[in-house]
Amino acid sequence: MIVHPVGALTGVARVPGDKSVTHRALLLGAIARGVTEIVHPGTGADNLSTLSAIRALGVEATFDDAEHFTVRGAGMAGLRRPETPIDCGNSGTTARLLAGLLAGAGVEATLVGDASLSARPMGRVADPLRDLGYALDAAEGDTLPLRIGSSRPADEPARAVLNVASAQVKSCILLSGLYRGAPTEVVEPAVSRDHTERMLRALGVRCTSSAHYYDPAGSAADDKAPMIRLDPPEEIVARSLEVPGDLSSAAFIVSAGLLTGGEVRVERVGTNPTRAGFLAAIEQMGATVRHRKRIGLSSGEPAADLVTGGGSLSGTTLGGGEIPLLIDEVPVLAVLGAAASGTFEVRDAAELRVKESDRVARTVELLAALGVEAEEREDGLTFPGRGSAAWPAFAFDCGEDHRIAMAAVVAALAAEGPCELSGVDCVAVSFPSFFETLAALGARFEGAPEAT
Ligand code: S3P
Repeated sequence: MIVHPVGALTGVARVPGDKSVTHRALLLGAIARGVTEIVHPGTGADNLSTLSAIRALGVEATFDDAEHFTVRGAGMAGLRRPETPIDCGNSGTTARLLAGLLAGAGVEATLVGDASLSARPMGRVADPLRDLGYALDAAEGDTLPLRIGSSRPADEPARAVLNVASAQVKSCILLSGLYRGAPTEVVEPAVSRDHTERMLRALGVRCTSSAHYYDPAGSAADDKAPMIRLDPPEEIVARSLEVPGDLSSAAFIVSAGLLTGGEVRVERVGTNPTRAGFLAAIEQMGATVRHRKRIGLSSGEPAADLVTGGGSLSGTTLGGGEIPLLIDEVPVLAVLGAAASGTFEVRDAAELRVKESDRVARTVELLAALGVEAEEREDGLTFPGRGSAAWPAFAFDCGEDHRIAMAAVVAALAAEGPCELSGVDCVAVSFPSFFETLAALGARFEGAPEAT
């Protein structure tokens, strides 16, 4: 497809419902008693993988229209053993959260996925679950297919101390804990997105978060690690769950507005502080994004309209505890860094190498296409920004990674001439209406895939 250069993108946009929150709404709706209406869900392929998965488990779930899914909960004990392996597609969240839910419920199942997901690490969920007494078998190298057995551990309190700050792993353990006859605690090395905890609380389940003094080796007695404690409920009673707009999708629209110098308003976007590191990072880089109409939603999530203002961009360093709060936004932040003055650096982000693609390597390739030579490190990258976005026209193959593809499109919108991009169909994984949304703000594309 061709992306034509445009002037300032301007206007009002809405992005699909948050992908992470939608996965959780589907899974918790599946085991709730009663009907869950999911309002403004994410409708990308990843969320549809979770929708199909709960259907395979015997739950009646419907995609009513782009604004509503309905889930008729089977109750906590109502999940059925699936007849065939459950296909999680490209969705790591589907595979990892389901692994915990099914292990906890003692529902025998096999999880499979596409080539990208089948190469991603599953030991990070299989190991802690096995340590807590659940029965799981992964393929060699701890990858999919993942087979979950029906044997359940004794009802003793559980504590998992994680060595990776991953909301997927944390949520996997918490979902398993819903079925345990005793509390489950999870200690994370740094705060990761807390959508599961918020939704559980919104559904009346006792789930508390606190700082915990964790001292495995006796040497770091002052270190505080986040700890989450879940008290298992007798049952979960369904309620309507409104999903905020996906900040990870909004990040591309906001970045396009900033790079082209326009005023873009994205409505009702999730601003959960454990997720919104992108907003803090661009502010740190000198961008102005105003928050308007702040509200709290029934899913337990805060949301606001985001309005881009001006501001010239300067480089920054992102690392440590900031990384889990903006992990999916690093590729597009690097594109903003390419247009900034000064050095842009990301460290402590080795997790990026095990996403839908190796996003450190792919981001370095995209930067090279923009004429920016980045130094690639095991856990990140560093480069001098160009000081302005007007890079020459470029060509780029986006591969199969939706976030790399959308970052490339944002970069192309700011280029001096038409850019030729291939492999962009994968945007449908998280943001099927991506091209339409940008076109409504003034972008011009030739041969763009249509929303599915
Ligand atoms: C997600 C958590 C993040 C993120 C992914 C969605 C979630 O992964 O990259 O896109 O919904 O919990 P990790 O928690 O494994 O870093």
